Amino acid sequence: MSKTFHITTFGCQMNEHDSEIMAGMLTEKGFRQVGERSEADVAIINTCSIRENADKRFFGTLGQLKRRKKDNPEFLVCVCGCMMQQQHVIDTIKAKYPWVDVIFGTHNIHQLPELIDNVLAEKKRQIEIWPDGGEIVEGLPSKRLFDCKALVNIMFGCNNFCTYCIVPYTRGRERSRRPEEIVKEVRNLVGDGVKEIMLLGQNVNSYKGDGDTDFADLIYMLNEIDGLERIRFMTSHPKDLSDKLIKAYTECDKLCRNIHLPVQSGSSRILKRMNRKYTKEQYLELIGKLRKAAGDMTISTDIIVGFPGETEEDFEETLDLVRKVRYDSAFTFLYSVRKGTPAEKFTDQIPEEIKHQRFNRLVDLINTISAEKNAEYVGRVEEVLVEGPSKTGSRTFAGRTDGFKLVNFKGSEDMVGQLVKVEITEGKTFSLEGRVIGEAEQR
Ligand code: 5AD
Ligand code: SF4
Repeated sequence: MSKTFHITTFGCQMNEHDSEIMAGMLTEKGFRQVGERSEADVAIINTCSIRENADKRFFGTLGQLKRRKKDNPEFLVCVCGCMMQQQHVIDTIKAKYPWVDVIFGTHNIHQLPELIDNVLAEKKRQIEIWPDGGEIVEGLPSKRLFDCKALVNIMFGCNNFCTYCIVPYTRGRERSRRPEEIVKEVRNLVGDGVKEIMLLGQNVNSYKGDGDTDFADLIYMLNEIDGLERIRFMTSHPKDLSDKLIKAYTECDKLCRNIHLPVQSGSSRILKRMNRKYTKEQYLELIGKLRKAAGDMTISTDIIVGFPGETEEDFEETLDLVRKVRYDSAFTFLYSVRKGTPAEKFTDQIPEEIKHQRFNRLVDLINTISAEKNAEYVGRVEEVLVEGPSKTGSRTFAGRTDGFKLVNFKGSEDMVGQLVKVEITEGKTFSLEGRVIGEAEQR
């Protein structure tokens, strides 16, 4: 009987893709992935450390596994991901959760099969953490979440050191994959039925491939791949978004007219304290250029509320920026102190109550704008890549437009993985409703 495994993933798309790779490696090893952790012989927890509640959820999950491990010592618990790159987390696991079998980090996920073999052979805990990323390991298998779309790493790590952020410490310095490796991977994915790729990196705009290949060059190269329909990327840092990339939106037909461009704050004073290296005015200028190049482009962002020292005036600047940009959607976060980051030392932390109150005001504004923008879609025909059954009900399917809007519509199983034309009938705050028109376009 083959062993079964289950992966719990916290955090961003980078982690999600790491989990796909781990699933790929274990499947190649003859293990079988199951949907419920309670049915698995091996449980893997891929952690995130971006905010404190991600830490809490991880320790909560470990707490749940304790009893299972006690009842069945053969059950293996493996933990990995960003939290494992922090010494204080390793110390806590060793002290309070000594029954965890395998601990590894973000730089050596390729070692998972070997670490599992070792723990089975030696019957003792395996801890293998690399302080920084070595050579990029190419050619790892991946078990995708969707057949029609794929996540593709183009670079790892971050050199920006925004003062609130833990990522430069958990994911190490920037390293880019060679463009020919990326093109090869995407060609293989297309051969396997993939229509849409999401290029991943903490800061894709500072991609530096072989020689002088930059991120825009890479987009042009990928745009040439026959059979590929859509190219997306995340995340871009506003300070590095080049005119060359903006031009690519007008010249590369596969590049989706959508961008996630985290602003973090609308106050230039706070942006400086965050070490973001742009002002409110520069960010707005960038948005102007993007809209000029592609007027129908959808734009989303990340905003942190309650960064140390944020005054009511600073917060008003954020509201003003949101009104000016009119984002299609935005992820909003309460500032969370991260151990080891420069902002941990800032003494002017904002009281929780004020943070929450500002957060609610911001979310109200964002939701109002999202609903208004989505209402503008009613009557339009959008091309939707169908992902699968929708969460909302029977015979309802869901997919994404070129601009990354989620659309729900009545459909059939044969549409999954296809691009279909959908007329939008209703715009809600977080999604659109629509009706398929004509035959599913088989491309
Ligand atoms: N507190 C709150 N939000 C944070 N982010 C990153 N670090 C923190 C923090 N310490 C947010 C940023 C980033 C997103 C992925 O998470 O907005 O863009
Ligand atoms: Fe964190 Fe800033 Fe790097 Fe993004 S750019 S991962 S927010 S340090």
